[in-house]
Order: sequence, then structure tokens, then C-alpha cells
Amino acid sequence: MPNFIVTPWEVSGEIDYDKIIQEFGIEPIDDKLISRIKEITSEIHPFLTRKIFFAHRDLNWILDEYQKGNPFYLYTGRGPSGDIHLGHIMPWIFTKWLQDKFNVELWFQLTDDEKFLFNQSLSLEDAYKYSYDNALDIIALGFDPKNTFIFSDIDLAGTLYRNALKIAKKITFSTIKATFGLNNSANIGQIFYTSIQTVPAIIKSLIEGRNVPCIIPHAVDQDPHFRLSRDVLPKLGYYKPASIQCMFLPSLQQGGKMSASMKHTAIFTKDTPDIVKKKVNNAFTGGQASAKIQRELGGNPSICSVYKYHFMFFTLDNDEIKIIHSRCTGGDLLCGECKNNLIQKINKFLLKHQEQREKAKDIIENYLLKEKVDLKSIIKEKMEKSN
Ligand code: TRP
Repeated sequence: MPNFIVTPWEVSGEIDYDKIIQEFGIEPIDDKLISRIKEITSEIHPFLTRKIFFAHRDLNWILDEYQKGNPFYLYTGRGPSGDIHLGHIMPWIFTKWLQDKFNVELWFQLTDDEKFLFNQSLSLEDAYKYSYDNALDIIALGFDPKNTFIFSDIDLAGTLYRNALKIAKKITFSTIKATFGLNNSANIGQIFYTSIQTVPAIIKSLIEGRNVPCIIPHAVDQDPHFRLSRDVLPKLGYYKPASIQCMFLPSLQQGGKMSASMKHTAIFTKDTPDIVKKKVNNAFTGGQASAKIQRELGGNPSICSVYKYHFMFFTLDNDEIKIIHSRCTGGDLLCGECKNNLIQKINKFLLKHQEQREKAKDIIENYLLKEKVDLKSIIKEKMEKSN
């Protein structure tokens, strides 16, 4: 048995990404593919060269179509069950890069329905409120309002339901059990839910009345949903959605990913500089038992959460990360200095993010899509007409 778990509902343990590639049947992103992207985008994002976005489905097809003049759109999402942390933001930063480089639309799904169904203690009203709260963090990253559509599932229920029905009819309960590990004690909303997450993969095709290629940037735990989408959508006459998949930003403690339910393991976008300082100073590192031993033997970046934060998010400059690595293993860079460096960088990032997040409150309407359903006024209108 592997000593890690990666499903859409649970991610834990020391994740072996090679094993995931095998088990999920996804393709690794290799240097050839990276060069191919670079031919189009001219620059390449460090998340690709560092293999943080490490796997995909049908990315070559997406690029083929793009180069033939048939551009794709981006679809990604967020389950709004609480505050946003850096682990959530990482794939969105990359999504924005893709949007900028390819100049394409982004459809962003906020699955308040999902979080309500899967989280026993979350009310529907609170999940819906988090949709709007989390949208501020998304907008703060600077997505182009002309090309970006953010929606809560509740707000777009009509379009989603109408199309989810057709998808749901093609999926059996036994497939859901096998794909998600759900059993007979699951509530019936949970069994249906994945059909709602599939609809945005065809939403442009629905609007345009012709097939439009879709690629979904997401963390690898969401792959089971889209494996099902890829099975079902061709049966309904649509393209299979492509995907580009990333790793998880690890926990600041030993093992596992940054988790919103364990507050001290994650840095939230609302954290103050003092909280960030405290969390990073308490982080699990690859340091030795004493400064003296560390000067002699060096530290171990391969197990160090502070190093991983530098590598995966805050020190994307290649020369700089090499220096951190070699000074650490050589015993010259001690954990205190390395942590301080990270604290500065996180706080600089958060200061700007928090400013942008405030500004987002004034422009949120430029991004949100909403179907207006106000039964009370519809009935009133009807009554007035018939009088
Ligand atoms: N199920 C995802 C979550 O819990 C949210 C989501 C919906 C999503 N659609 C997506 C994530 C597309 C990535 C890509 O976070």
C-alpha cells in the first residue's frame, strides 16, 4: 500500500508523483513539450521548467489546434469552503500566465454546491458567501476582466443543471463508486456532483454552438473528475477536455500538503506579517540539531519545507535558488537566515495581494456571471399582466 492518499476529497502523506502518473494514466510534461510551449509563448514559466506543473492530458492536441487557428479556452475552479492559502493560489498564478500568453478566455467555477454537499458542518449560505470572498483573491491576481468569467454554481444553476442532466444520464452509480470511492452512505447530492463539475468543460461550446477546445489547469487531485468528463463528453458529441496538472505546495510541517483545516501548516492570504513570521519560524526544516553541526555537515534541502517554499513559489530565479541550495548543503546558510529571507518574500507578496484584494471589491461585478432568478418579482409581473 502506498503511504499517501490523493483523491478529490483527501490529500495526505508523502506524495509519490511518479506513482500518480502511472496510476492516473496521465502524461509527464517533458522537455520536448516545454520547448514546444516556448516556441509559442517565447518565455517559459518556472512552474513548467521546475516541473511543478508536471503532468497533462492532450496538451499536444491543444497546441496543435491553437497553431491551426482553433484557440482553446481555460477552465479552472475552487471549492469555496474557507479562506484562501498560498497552495490554492499557485495554480491560479500559472493560469493567469497561460491567459496572458495565449490571450484566451478563462472560466472560473466556484463550487459552493460541492462544498455544501461534502462538508458536513458547512451551511449552504456560508459556502455561497465564501464564493464571493474567494472571488476577491482570484481577481486580486490580475486576471483580464474582458476575458474572465467567474461564477458560483448556485448563481449559474440553470445552465449547469440543464447540461449536467445529460451528463449524469451517462454515468452509473457503480462508476461513481469506483472513481471516487463513494459508498452507499454517501448522500445523493455527492453522487450527482461530478456532472456539475463537467459542464464548464463544454460551456464555450454551448455558447458558440460549435466545439471549442478546453484545457483545465488544476492540482492533480481533481483528475478523477475530468477522467469521467473525458469518458462522457465524446458520447454527447463534444471534445474531451485537456488538462495541465500541478503538485501541491507542501505543508510547513513535516509531510502532506498545505491544509486549510490545519491553520498552522498553511499561509493564508489574510495573514498578517507577524503571523507569517511565526508560522515560518515554526516550520519543519532540513536543519541539523545545532548550528555547529550544521556548519560542519550542511542542511538537507530535499526534506525542508522552507526550501520547498523558495523553490516552488518565492525564489523562481534560477541563479538565486542554486545559491540557496549550495549554501545550505555547504553549511554556510543556516535556517534562521533562510527563514528570514522567505518571511520577507512572503510578506512582500501578501502586502501587494491584500491591496489588490481590497480593490477587487470595487470591480467584482466586472467578473461575475449570474443568472437572475427572482421568483417573487416574476410572479408579481405575471399577476399585473393578467389583471
Ligand atoms: N472541486 C474543486 C475543489 O474542490 C473545485 C473545482 C471545480 C475545480 N472545477 C474545477 C478545480 C476545475 C480545478 C479545475 O477545489
